[in-house]
Amino acid sequence: MQKASAITLLFVFCGLFENAETSFQSCIPRKTVAFQNGINRVFAEPGIFNYSVLLINEETDSLFVGARGAIFALELNDISKAVSYTYWSSPESAQLHCARRGKDKSDCQNYIRVFHKINSTTYYVCGTNAFQPACDYMVIVDGQIQLLGRREEGKGKCPYDPAERYASVMAGGELYSATSFDFQGSEPVVLRSLGNGLRTEYTASWLNEPTFVHADIIEERENSLGGDDQIYVFFSEKAVEFDFYDKLIVPRIARVCKGDRGGMRTLQKKWTSFLKARLSCLEPSLNLEFNVVQDIFLLKTTDWRERIFYGIFTFQWETLDTSAVCAFNLSHVEDVFSSGSFKAPVTLEQSLLVKWVIYTGDVPFPRPGACIGNKEKEHGYTTSLDLPDKTLQMVKDHPLIDSAVKAIDNLPKLLKRGSKYTRIAVDRVVALDHRLHDVMFLGTDDGYIHKAVNYQGEMFIIQEVQLFMSPQRVESLQLSSLKGYLYVGSASQVVQVPVSDCGRYRNCLDCVLARDPYCIWARIQQECVNVSEGTADPQKWQHRKLYHYPWQHDST
Ligand SMILES: *[C@@H]1O[C@H](CO)[C@@H](O)[C@H](O)[C@H]1NC(C)=O
Ligand SMILES: *[C@@H]1O[C@H](CO)[C@@H](O)[C@H](O)[C@H]1NC(C)=O
Repeated sequence: MQKASAITLLFVFCGLFENAETSFQSCIPRKTVAFQNGINRVFAEPGIFNYSVLLINEETDSLFVGARGAIFALELNDISKAVSYTYWSSPESAQLHCARRGKDKSDCQNYIRVFHKINSTTYYVCGTNAFQPACDYMVIVDGQIQLLGRREEGKGKCPYDPAERYASVMAGGELYSATSFDFQGSEPVVLRSLGNGLRTEYTASWLNEPTFVHADIIEERENSLGGDDQIYVFFSEKAVEFDFYDKLIVPRIARVCKGDRGGMRTLQKKWTSFLKARLSCLEPSLNLEFNVVQDIFLLKTTDWRERIFYGIFTFQWETLDTSAVCAFNLSHVEDVFSSGSFKAPVTLEQSLLVKWVIYTGDVPFPRPGACIGNKEKEHGYTTSLDLPDKTLQMVKDHPLIDSAVKAIDNLPKLLKRGSKYTRIAVDRVVALDHRLHDVMFLGTDDGYIHKAVNYQGEMFIIQEVQLFMSPQRVESLQLSSLKGYLYVGSASQVVQVPVSDCGRYRNCLDCVLARDPYCIWARIQQECVNVSEGTADPQKWQHRKLYHYPWQHDST
C-alpha cells in the first residue's frame, strides 16, 4: 500500500497520473543500454590480450593495466591512448619448457597477474611467466614505466596457471598472496613475502582445495584497543565440516594479523593468527545457502567499524542459475573471529571418518588466532613469538570457527536469476538529502554491467550496459568514485564507463522512475541532471525543492 502511494506521489510530481505498479518488477533491469561503438572510451592494443589486472592511482591520474606480456599506463580521465607501456614476455626457453611439460602453448606465456603499489615511486608486478611465476619492480621515470629487471621468484605470490583464481594485497611494503605454491596447483598457500615471510600450514583443515577470490587489509590504527592491522582473504573450498555425498563447497573468510611473526617452536614461520569462518548468504525462497563466493568488494568508510564487505555469491550446481549479492558488516566479522566457538575434529569409532563438532574444551589465553593487542601485551605477550604452545597448538589444529558470518539482515541485497556475476564494485553515493545509497556495479560473464540498489529491502536494477560487441567475461572491475568512472578489463580490451549518465533519461517520468541516486530531475531546465551538477550551481542549490529524488517516498 505504502509503495503504491509513493508511486502516486512520483507521478503527481511529474504532472502525470497513471497506475504504474508494474514498473516495479524487481530485478529486471529497468533500462538496457545496448552496445554502441564509440559510446564508451576503450583501450585495446593490437595483438595484446587478457587485460586482467587494473590498478588505479588517483594521485597521478593513472590506470595501470597488466595484460599478457605487456604493461600499460593509461590516463585515468581518458584511457583510449597509452601514456606509456613496456613489454614483459617469457623467455623462449621457458615457453618451450612449459610446453614440454604438457601445458597448452597459449598458457605458456607471461600473464601479468599481481600489480601493487609499494610506495610513491615503486610498484611490484608478477606474471605467470610460462608456469614459472616471476616478479619485478616497476618504476616511473619521466612519465615512462620501466621494469628494473630483477626477476624475483614469484612462487606463492602469483599463480602458475593463468586460468587460476588468486588474491593478493600489499600492505606496509609486504605482499600478502593467496594462490598455489606448485606447478600442479595442488598446494594452496596464504603467504607473506617481501618482509617477514610467513605461510599457512599445508593441511586440509587450513585450506582444502580453495579457490581464492579476494584479499584486503583493514587498518586499525584508530582502534583504541591497540589492535593490529588485519588481512582478510576470501575463498571457496571443499567443506570439511559437513557430511555430504557430493563434494560440498563453502564460502569462507579467513584472517591473519599484520603483526604476526610466527611461533617460536610450534608454527615456526607459519601464521599463528590464521582463522577462518563460513560466510552465510541465504537464498530466502529455497532456504538454501549460496555456497560459492565469486568476488568481494570492501566498501571503505571513515569509521573502520562501519566498513562493509559486499560479495557476489552463486551455487556450485549449474541448475541453480541465480547470482546474489550479500553484504557483511566488518564489526560482525570481528565478533565472529574474536568470540565465536571453535570447531574440532573427532574421529568416529569403528570408522576412520572425521566429524567436525563444536569444540567444548578450554580455550587458552591468549585466545588462539587473536591479534596481539593491549590485553595480550599487559600479560607479557608482546609478539606472536611469545605465545604459549597451548595457544599455538589450538590454532594449528582448530583454525575453523563454528559460527558463520551472517549477511546483513540475513538477506541478500540483490538476487538475479539468469545472470552470472563475476565482479563487483560499490559506490556510496551521498545524495542532496544526505541519505546514503550503496550503488552496486556488477560485471557479468557475458559482458554487461548491472547497476543496482537496494532501497530498504527492495531490490532494483537501475540499468544494464552492454560493454562489448560480442559476449566477453568481465575479468576485472575497478571504480574511481573521485572520477566517476568504472574501468572494466576483459580478454580483448579495457573499457571506461561513467557511473551515471543522467542525460539518458529523457523525461521526468523516466528520470524519476529510474531511481538512480546519481540523478535528479531539474524542473526549470526540464532535464535529468547529475546530483553533483545540481549542487555545483548555487542558484540551483537554493531551489532544491525543485529537484526530486527518485527514491524519495515522502513529500518533503
Ligand atoms: C620504494 O620502495 C623501493 C622498493 O622497496 C625502495 O627501494 C625505495 O627506496 C622506496 N622509495 C621511497 C621513496 O620510499
Ligand atoms: C586470454 O585471451 C584469449 C583471447 O581472447 C582467450 O581466449 C583466453 O581465454 C584468455 N585467457 C585467460 C587465461 O584469460
